[in-house]
Amino acid sequence: MTLKMKSQIISPRELQKAADLLLQGQNVAFPTETVYGLGAVISSEKAVQNIFKVKGRPQDNPLIVHIHSVSDVHNLAIDIPKDFYSLTEVFSPGPLTVILKKHAAVPYTISAGLDTVAVRIPSHPIAQKLLKMVSKPLVAPSANLSGKPSATHYQHVLDDFDGQIAAVVSDKPSIIGIESTVVSLLDDQIKILRPGSISKEQIEAVLKKEIFIATLSKDEKVSSPGMKYRHYAPQASIKLFYDEISLINYCDKEPSLKRMVLSNKKALFAKALELSNKSLYANLRLADDLGCDEIVVFCDNEISHNAALMNRLIKASSKI
Ligand code: TXA
Ligand code: MG
Repeated sequence: MTLKMKSQIISPRELQKAADLLLQGQNVAFPTETVYGLGAVISSEKAVQNIFKVKGRPQDNPLIVHIHSVSDVHNLAIDIPKDFYSLTEVFSPGPLTVILKKHAAVPYTISAGLDTVAVRIPSHPIAQKLLKMVSKPLVAPSANLSGKPSATHYQHVLDDFDGQIAAVVSDKPSIIGIESTVVSLLDDQIKILRPGSISKEQIEAVLKKEIFIATLSKDEKVSSPGMKYRHYAPQASIKLFYDEISLINYCDKEPSLKRMVLSNKKALFAKALELSNKSLYANLRLADDLGCDEIVVFCDNEISHNAALMNRLIKASSKI
C-alpha cells in the first residue's frame, strides 16, 4: 500500500513557511478576497506546469499573475495604457484582473501561447503579505479541479488537492466568494471577459466611456480561452427558475429526487439554502457531499440583475 503524503496546512502566523516552499519551487494555495488561489512563483517552471497537471487544466487556458503593487507591472507588461492606471488607482488592490500586452519575461506556458498577460493585485492581507515575502509575482488560478466549483475555504482546496500540492494557507472563508472581474485593455474597445463584483457600470464611471461585455464569438475564443470551458459545476445538475410558481410546480412533479434549493428568499421555500456570491461555491460543493441529484435555483429579480452570479450559475448549469 502506498501512503499519500498529506499537504501541509499552514496557519497565517507561519506564513514565512509558505513563502519558503514557494521559493523552493513548490505549489502553495493561499486565500484571496475572491477565492483561494493555487500558487507558484512565476519563474518556477515545474511548479507552473504542475498547476496545469493537478487541476486538469487545458494547456490553452492562461494563468493570472498576481503582484504586490502597481509598480510591479513593468516586469510583466508592455505598452501599458493610461486606463490601466485609472482602473488600478480606484480598484486595486482588489477583485480586478487586467489583460495587457505581455512582457518578453513572462513565459508562454503562463500566457498559454498568447502575447498577453492577466495581472491582478489582490487585497487580502495574507495574499499581500505573501507576495511581499516572496518578492516575485505569483501565478494563481482558482484552487479547484478544472471545471469544478472554485474553493472559498481551505478545506475545499484540500478536498481537491490533498497530497498533490505542498501546502495550503488556512484562513477564514473568502469574503467575496466569486472570482475577480477580468477586463481586457488590449484595444480601444475595452471588454469585460469575466464579470465579477466590480461591475461594468463602476468601470465605465471611472474610465468615462462605454465598455463591452465579451460574448463567446469566434474572436473571444482566441482572446479569452477560459470562456469556452464549462465551469464551476458540481456533479449534481443545476436548474434555474425565474419565477417561484414554476419552481414549486417542478419540485412537486419530481418529489423523489434528492434536491437542494438555493434562494435569496429563504422564507419562500422550506429548507432552501442561501443564494449569494459568498455562499454559492460552498453550497454547490455541499450538494455533492450530500449526494444530491440536482440543485434548483430561484433567480428572482435581484439575482437576475447580479451579472457576476448569473454568469457563474449559467455556466455551472450548462451541459457543455
Ligand atoms: O479572483 C480571481 O481571479 C482568482 C484568484 C485566485 O485571483 N483567480 C482565478 O483564476 O479565477 P482562474 O485561472 O480560475 O481564472 C482566470 C481567468 C480564466 O478564464 C482565463 O482564461 C483568463 O482569466 N485569463 C488568464 N490570462 C488571460 C489572458 N492573457 N487573456 C485572456 N484571458 C485570460
Ligand atoms: Mg477558475
